[in-house]
Amino acid sequence: MGYSVAGKNVLVTGASSGIGAALAEGFAARGATVGICARREDRLAEVLDRVKERSPSSRSWTVDLADLPGVGSFARRVEDELGGVDVLVNNAGIPKRRRVTDLTPEVVDAVMTINYLSPVRLTLALLPGLIERSGRVVNISSVAARLSPPSEAAYAPTKAALTAWSESMQVDLHDTGVRVHVVNPGIVDTDLFHLPDNDAPIADDVEALPVEAIVAPVLDQLENGTFEIYVPEWFADVVAGKFPDTGQFLDGTIEWLKTKQ
Ligand SMILES: NC(=O)c1ccc[n+]([C@@H]2O[C@H](COP(=O)([O-])OP(=O)(O)OC[C@H]3O[C@@H](n4cnc5c(N)ncnc54)[C@H](OP(=O)(O)O)[C@@H]3O)[C@@H](O)[C@H]2O)c1
Repeated sequence: MGYSVAGKNVLVTGASSGIGAALAEGFAARGATVGICARREDRLAEVLDRVKERSPSSRSWTVDLADLPGVGSFARRVEDELGGVDVLVNNAGIPKRRRVTDLTPEVVDAVMTINYLSPVRLTLALLPGLIERSGRVVNISSVAARLSPPSEAAYAPTKAALTAWSESMQVDLHDTGVRVHVVNPGIVDTDLFHLPDNDAPIADDVEALPVEAIVAPVLDQLENGTFEIYVPEWFADVVAGKFPDTGQFLDGTIEWLKTKQ
């Protein structure tokens, strides 16, 4: 019998749009009580309305998770108001498509803060409760963690860090009931590709998946206990093809990049 989210309390960060909103609705449809959070109150309210149709006790919090000192008290508030957290989905994140020559240290710090340092703080704050409840942690990483994409020198390392953190956590928590999961979306059609202050996406020849396509693989992953998944699955083959010769893979990326310029 695999893990079931029915009757569990699930916290999804960054659920005002995109993957987080789709997952929140997916968890509600499977019988979970869902807590959602993000900065945009209006978008969060729309998602909460849809989630509550399936899961009336669900709730939302407006929070800026880049405010690191506030993350601990936010975690305690969620535990109090949701009645404990069984499943933590660290999904909130921002892109920063920009060539390395155009990056500033401040931009690099800001992306690392929301994509890595914040989910780490939230996880540490919720970890005692998660251990007590034999919970699950789902970290939304990216294929960028492994594939060195162009113009993502600020973003890709944040996801590589999140993946490495997840791997180490899973090892350290082997003697608890907690399980950690990594999700590597490829290209999913969300606001992420339309945010201001980013270079235009380069991989315009890879078909974007509709956001709903992420839901069943993540729910199945939780149920089956699979550590890491790629959505779509074929990205796993691209990653496997890279590691025997990373230099050759980078040369291939540069050749592909030249066809775009
Ligand atoms: N779409 C893809 O192809 C793709 C591929 C690989 C990985 N991912 C990852 O998937 C995750 C979700 O992204 P998405 O594609 O669904 O894009 P999205 O629609 O832009 O969602 C990002 C979410 O993060 C929230 N967020 C951002 N900064 C925040 C902050 N400081 N505090 C609280 N919440 C914050 C946003 O809400 P507010 O703006 O309301 O705060 C939003 O709900 C990200 O971690 C992203 O890196 C996406």
